[in-house]
Amino acid sequence: MSAINFTYLPGDGVGPEVGAVAMTVLQAIAEKYGHDLKPAQYLIGGAAIDAGLKPLPDDTFASCQKTGAILLGAVGGPKWDHLKGADRPELGALLPLRKRLNLYANIRPCKPYPALIDHAPLKRERLEGTDFIVMRELTGGIYFGAKGRDTLGAYDECRYSEIEIERIAIKAFELAITRRKKVTSVDKSNVLETSRLWRQTVMKVAASYPSVELEHLLIDAMTMHMLTRAQDFDVILTENMFGDILTDEASVLSGSMGVVPSASISDGTIGMYEPIHGSAPDIAGQGIANPLAMILSAAWMLRLSLGLPAEAQAIEDAVAAALDGQHVTGDLGGRLSTSQTGDWIANYVHQS
Ligand code: NAD
Ligand code: IPM
Ligand code: MN
Repeated sequence: MSAINFTYLPGDGVGPEVGAVAMTVLQAIAEKYGHDLKPAQYLIGGAAIDAGLKPLPDDTFASCQKTGAILLGAVGGPKWDHLKGADRPELGALLPLRKRLNLYANIRPCKPYPALIDHAPLKRERLEGTDFIVMRELTGGIYFGAKGRDTLGAYDECRYSEIEIERIAIKAFELAITRRKKVTSVDKSNVLETSRLWRQTVMKVAASYPSVELEHLLIDAMTMHMLTRAQDFDVILTENMFGDILTDEASVLSGSMGVVPSASISDGTIGMYEPIHGSAPDIAGQGIANPLAMILSAAWMLRLSLGLPAEAQAIEDAVAAALDGQHVTGDLGGRLSTSQTGDWIANYVHQS
């Protein structure tokens, strides 16, 4: 019996609710495929602060480093919004975790499930055939520049080195050659110097990938193109802040924030897997959060960090079956609770 070792960080708000469901589904997978599920569960974010600890306790970080596979719910919420700087869950836990583990590449998909096309607010013809992946730079840019207050006001510095841009661009082109061979690089090079270096460096990397088409778009126009011609995109390459915003927008094409997983990876197999949504304080504690993004994130962890592609596929098939049969939560027009959705998917795994 082989062990499935990973670090499980439930976090805050709906994080523990969707996390519990992902654990149920992972347990079903472990039973079906003869593995021993061994989650190492640790506190992070507001939950750690409430326990009198730092937002990213040392033993939490040590486990993440040791297992190299991390499943995270979400961190943050109004309860901790009064805190400043690194005392906050986001700046004190999530960002340092990404930075210290060098998880510079954040992958977020947009391929609307057939069963959700009529649920999304856009017309069917704007959605059918959409299949793109956003490659978001995750450890640089304005998120990590000097920030502060002075007598003039406040500032957040945006910096990118050529190496930081080059390595994320390589990830995007390497992904594109396995797909439809197109990279759309999104920047604001008409205004920002970091974007000018971004564009220049992406063009340099592109020269090594002659079979891949490269397109450049400005971020403001891109937010519009994504809604009017989503089918034209294959791999969208962009910096940290633009990628954050574009992927929430893209989740609307997918039908809900609650169905979009993400992988944050580096070189090698280390990875952190989390839904793109946050702690959803407006619905936390009600048992209505959609657990599919968290379940799909767990599947990606199995495939990308733990080398278990068949197990990952079994989860993805079960999620597709749940969607086809409308065994889903209210945000997708279904009637099931968070845990009922997880139980349906776990049963499907057992029976298939
Ligand atoms: P959010 O993603 O938590 O919620 C946005 C909207 O989407 C809300 O209406 C919410 O109810 C809905 N939603 C989110 N997840 C859902 C789900 N699984 N099922 C159904 N509906 C869902 O964004 P926000 O409200 O702007 O942020 C809340 C907190 O989460 C903030 O403190 C923010 O910093 C934090 N956050 C954390 C992460 C993370 O840890 N990875 C990501 C994003 C936001
Ligand atoms: C995300 C979140 C985070 C980000 C926040 C919570 C720091 O919005 O993962 O999309 O901006 O990266
Ligand atoms: Mn975000």
